[in-house]
Amino acid sequence: MGQYRTHVFVCTSGDTCPTQGDVEQFVKYLRGECAKAGLKTEVRVNKAGCFSQCGHGPMMVVYPDDVWYAGVGESDLQEIFESHILHGKPVERLLYNPGVKGPNKKPGTR
Ligand code: FES
Repeated sequence: MGQYRTHVFVCTSGDTCPTQGDVEQFVKYLRGECAKAGLKTEVRVNKAGCFSQCGHGPMMVVYPDDVWYAGVGESDLQEIFESHILHGKPVERLLYNPGVKGPNKKPGTR
């Protein structure tokens, strides 16, 4: 286990994710929620460069769970925080499906 229980990476500096959502604000929001929940020493939220999965953004990755999210919207952040970061349950409907073109489009899921 590393320094943190949970390490969240938000793609903020690739070519496409920053054009698909306000990813800088995503980082601020998640950091704020972690601080309010007293998790600053347990959960780290970092800005990240491109994950080489461009076009599926905005994207986030959560370690050590190795859970990748795609097509994340600002309105999804509270659910990701509460369900996954607080309670360890990934948000299934936002999981990255790399075989599908576009932001995480699984038939019948959105
Ligand atoms: S720009 Fe986010 S994965 Fe490439």
